Amino acid sequence: MPRSFADANGDGIGDLAGIIDKLPYLEWLGIDAIWLTPPYPSPLRDGGYDITDFTAIHPDLGSLDDFRLLLDRAHACGIRLILDLVLNHTSVLHPWFQRARWAAPGTPEREFFVWRDDERGYADAPVLFRHFESSNWEWDPMAGQYYLHRFLRHQPDLNYANPAVEEAMLQVVDFWLEQGVDGFRLDAVPFLFEAEHSRCEGLPETHAFLRRLRSRVDACGRDVLLLAEAIQPVRESAPYLADDELHAAFDFALTAHLFAAVAHGRCDDLLHCLSHAQEMVPGCRWALPLRNHDELWLGDGHLVEQSVIEAILNGFPEGRDHWLNWGINRRLAPLLNGDPRPNTLLHGLLYSLPGLPCLYYGDELGMGDWPGLRDRDANRTPMAWTRAPNGGFSTAPDPLLVLPPITAPGFDYRMVNVEVQQQLSGSLLNWHHRMLTSRRLLPALRHGDVVWLESGHPGVLCYARHCPECQDGDAPQPSMTVVVAANVSSAGASTQLELGRWQGSRMRDTLWGCEFPAASDAWFVYLPAYGFFWWLVGE
Ligand code: GLC
Ligand code: CA
Repeated sequence: MPRSFADANGDGIGDLAGIIDKLPYLEWLGIDAIWLTPPYPSPLRDGGYDITDFTAIHPDLGSLDDFRLLLDRAHACGIRLILDLVLNHTSVLHPWFQRARWAAPGTPEREFFVWRDDERGYADAPVLFRHFESSNWEWDPMAGQYYLHRFLRHQPDLNYANPAVEEAMLQVVDFWLEQGVDGFRLDAVPFLFEAEHSRCEGLPETHAFLRRLRSRVDACGRDVLLLAEAIQPVRESAPYLADDELHAAFDFALTAHLFAAVAHGRCDDLLHCLSHAQEMVPGCRWALPLRNHDELWLGDGHLVEQSVIEAILNGFPEGRDHWLNWGINRRLAPLLNGDPRPNTLLHGLLYSLPGLPCLYYGDELGMGDWPGLRDRDANRTPMAWTRAPNGGFSTAPDPLLVLPPITAPGFDYRMVNVEVQQQLSGSLLNWHHRMLTSRRLLPALRHGDVVWLESGHPGVLCYARHCPECQDGDAPQPSMTVVVAANVSSAGASTQLELGRWQGSRMRDTLWGCEFPAASDAWFVYLPAYGFFWWLVGE
């Protein structure tokens, strides 16, 4: 969230120059890519997802030149830049919408958006922001009609049935490709087309458009990542990963199952969810989010079963008090009561499961949140860099800050910040740095295949990641196997793992190099509460 990351010019708002200043930190931390939430001009009624100009930078954040500089500097650090691309809607203040509401019905200008004479259309499409809106339609007095908005009433849905809309948005994509961006996170991608008697999610027309988008992107001749945000069960998000469609999609069902596993100390449902995703789309194309700038989305029983939601709410009773729209509006660390053990366990899984692990800024510190702020702002407060006022985020006086820095007991920025944690060898931040460094050195974790292994304990998840001999960038890599075991329960677990297929091979813990007994078909191991290991198998 550029506005909350680092403020370089002291006006209280994070900016692109601030991100440039922090690139050495991000490089040290060990990430590969930055996803920027929408940096475009916007009245900010929805955190910048309500856009008035798709091909410019919000003046608070800097200029297009600053953006190009950020891109160059990030590339020089080996970090790629992924832009949020909001295809589904604009702001009501976008010139397209202003033009549409004055244009005569039936004209191409008017048809940039979806209009009706009454608000009865698409009745099976759920209201997504149900704590803010009661209908997907809003009356426009200028147009004398209702317009469709799947999100806030300030965000009219573009009408993809109009070919001019498709071309206009593809030109936006061309524009950012020309700037040199490395990928797009496709916001709210299921909702592009509508049809009666459906939830208006992932319709065949939407997939056909995405295939055209893919060809357009492929035509630029560079590797550009297309990542879908589709908060849907795997059976519905897998189609976005057809070979001629998108490269990656978030697995939000997994996020819910990870929390449920920790909540009830069992991993059978989690294993089922993981193996199902691999059956649908094998390999590493699922993006794995633990938290992000939205609420922890659990849904209405469509994304995951109601029993999974109940398990989470029983394990994290506070979730009920912080329920917003369709999920829990809290950051990771406070949701876990500040306990670092489930925190490292969950990230340890994220960093070793097949897929693209996603780390939300501040979660590497166990940063807190600010319940009670408007909408999802609770989770979007300024990054804590130092013990200085405002956590070193900005030199502006407090009232000018975009959002308040965290001062809640246990999470105060004078304690929980980058400067302090870099100095403490046992800190969460140094743990992430070490894990990400290890992951970088273990190609099996980054692009290996996965086999799920038997564990004799209901709370222990066990799997092996394997990659054959390969070329990793410029360096040849020998074949590699890493076995992972993770105890999702709050009690220690002594268990037997089925490692017969590596009979007699060396087993070394990758993080500390500690030698374990050679692999066998009845291999005993003790995992402390929330404990986990990554073992390198063989030489
Ligand atoms: C996505 C974004 C969210 C935004 C919504 C509407 O879900 O992650 O922050 O409010 O789309 O654009
Ligand atoms: Ca600023």
